[in-house]
Amino acid sequence: MSARPYVIDEMISAKAIAARIEALCREIHDEFDGTDKLVVVGLLRGSFVFIADLVRELDLPIEVDFLEASSYGDGMESSREVRILKDLRGAIEGRDVLVVEDIVDTGHTLNHVTRLLASRNPARLKSIALLDKPSRREVDFKADWTGFEIPDEFVVGYGIDFAQRNRNLPFIGKVRFIDGPA
Ligand code: PRP
Repeated sequence: MSARPYVIDEMISAKAIAARIEALCREIHDEFDGTDKLVVVGLLRGSFVFIADLVRELDLPIEVDFLEASSYGDGMESSREVRILKDLRGAIEGRDVLVVEDIVDTGHTLNHVTRLLASRNPARLKSIALLDKPSRREVDFKADWTGFEIPDEFVVGYGIDFAQRNRNLPFIGKVRFIDGPA
């Protein structure tokens, strides 16, 4: 929990997120139409809300699996080190795979995870991120689909945490610290 008091200002409403997901799903449907071997892979923990809404909007036969990667710990700065804390349950060789991420920041997490999954020889490997902060990029990575490009703000909600809190907000908010008396 942060020792500094803060408030959360709404940045992207639940309604705007839902509308964007609808549009993204039309594109994803066009890409994967006809396949019966799509595995949608959520990166824990941040993507759990996004993947839940995404798969319910996707009118395709799918399986769902999860992988947990972590690079941040409980702090605000990336350690630049991506660790696989929980691997997929199923094999993805010959399968179509859609990796679902909440946010691309430095790019290390999705870059590492997509390379790892590509080494397992899926038939097709695509990625989607709800949020993208291009100004923070440290490795050259771009998801195949992005929900919203955002400036370098500290965002929370819709699955994204601040020191493990606020993941359950239904919208994307930005953290604003309130400086108290010295
Ligand atoms: C956050 C976020 C992304 C990653 C993006 O995960 O959910 O997975 O960082 O940052 P990057 O592009 O700089 O790698 P975190 O490690 O905090 O774990 P969490 O998903 O459990 O919150």
